[in-house]
Amino acid sequence: MRVTVIGTGYVGTVTGACLAYFGHRVTCVDTDAQKIQKLRRGEMPIYEPCLAELLGLASARGGIDFTTELGTPAVESDVIFIAVGTPPLPTGEANLCYLEAAARGIGASMDDRRFRVVVNKSTVPVGSGNLVDTLVREGIEEAHPGDRKRIRFGVASNPEFLREGSAIADSLYPDRIVLGAGEDCTLQVLRELYEPLVAQSFPAPAFLPRPATVTQVSVVTTTLTSAEMIKYAANAFLAVKIGFANEVANICERVGAEAPEVMTGIGLDARIGASFLKPGLGWGGSCFGKDVQSLMHTSREYGYQSRLLEAALEVNRAQRQLAIQKLQEKLFILKGRTIGLLGLAFKPETDDLRDAPSLQIAERLLQMGTRVKAYDPIAMLACRENYPTLKIQYCESPEDAAQDADALLLVTEWKEFARLDLAGLAQRMARPILVDGRNLFDPEAARQAGFDYCGIGRPQRAAQHNGVAEHGRNGANLVPA
Ligand SMILES: NC(=O)c1ccc[n+]([C@@H]2O[C@H](COP(=O)([O-])OP(=O)(O)OC[C@H]3O[C@@H](n4cnc5c(N)ncnc54)[C@H](O)[C@@H]3O)[C@@H](O)[C@H]2O)c1
Repeated sequence: MRVTVIGTGYVGTVTGACLAYFGHRVTCVDTDAQKIQKLRRGEMPIYEPCLAELLGLASARGGIDFTTELGTPAVESDVIFIAVGTPPLPTGEANLCYLEAAARGIGASMDDRRFRVVVNKSTVPVGSGNLVDTLVREGIEEAHPGDRKRIRFGVASNPEFLREGSAIADSLYPDRIVLGAGEDCTLQVLRELYEPLVAQSFPAPAFLPRPATVTQVSVVTTTLTSAEMIKYAANAFLAVKIGFANEVANICERVGAEAPEVMTGIGLDARIGASFLKPGLGWGGSCFGKDVQSLMHTSREYGYQSRLLEAALEVNRAQRQLAIQKLQEKLFILKGRTIGLLGLAFKPETDDLRDAPSLQIAERLLQMGTRVKAYDPIAMLACRENYPTLKIQYCESPEDAAQDADALLLVTEWKEFARLDLAGLAQRMARPILVDGRNLFDPEAARQAGFDYCGIGRPQRAAQHNGVAEHGRNGANLVPA
């Protein structure tokens, strides 16, 4: 099939690459000429593992190209995806201006030569499918007055569930595909489009073998409204789940329990599940915060106040502040001290800094008169470019960040940090204090390396209990898998 994808961000580029890899002919469109130039040169505008490799294969299979002009690709396409940003407005409401421009542009580009499906992949509030329908019609009316009745199209919602950092694997081997539309002819086009994905009939790329458990992908077909709601409900649930883990970790710290072990203990219950139960400095990224706020905004519009979602946001806000509190507990005075941050990206394997806890923590520390050094394997360039007012001293290595620092704060759990020579780091510091905001390190190993260590929900008292357990007096010595 001929496909256009509007927006070449984290979602659009990955969607385009996967569809072309399945054998469709794809054109990706973006208003950002610099991004398009980069993609044409084979350079990646974002850091996403395996994306460059998949784009290489996609060109050879279905074929993929990049342009700033929507007109020709849209007119030639059977399916047009909208994958533009929907950032939050100060009110929490989703800013739909990019979606609106894309929908009008699609309308203006249509003719009566074929039936086209306009698919909304951006995360949008309930009712946006109807808005897209109206805007496409208005675009048609403006560009071809009088032809409106002869130009046929359907609108669908196909929310995206990829995770940055594992976006390609998530898109080739998803848990499910959600398709929402009002008419069966619209759904039929999407069933055909996704057939290779649903049947898993495409050859797995050598760099991302198909997991043995993936044989077919479940498809949920539903209404536009329910599809839009599924996306918000999924993100809200995950945000609440992490918030719950953090809430319990804060109680663990007070009563002397080991939060990671408590999470292992509850996560083994099939009704609960082990993922998204890691206590830490809270979630960040471009989705959870904005989607939870947008869902709260929608529910307020309908006269309903979601206390659970409000609490999830509040718990997350406080969790970021916990990093500062822990540094204050260790150092008392932060003014004039030097803190080394390990990690800036909102999570490992991405360069995305949108709503990253590191930014808020660095900003607060700087406001308090603290010197902030930082090292991140990938996100430093993006941080320097996108947040120029943040006066962070960027470092060449974790060792450089530790040099003469009064404390180290681990913010992002990059794998390479787990392999650091802790004793070597401790020796470089003015004070060997380590606040492990993601519970990456073994507390005992960190202490033996010379660190005054603290994690999240891991009180020192529990470490003493474990010491007893190692000597065989406590049968409940859980070792997290
Ligand atoms: N990033 C994620 O992990 C993720 C996951 C699931 C869903 N989503 C949702 O997908 C949508 C896109 O997210 P993203 O992270 O890819 O955003 P992004 O900001 O990385 O990319 C959006 C792109 O759209 C382009 N754009 C804006 N208006 C345009 C227009 N009229 N025509 C052409 N291009 C236009 C921008 O230039 C930008 O390159 C959002 O609604 C987001 O909530 C994101």
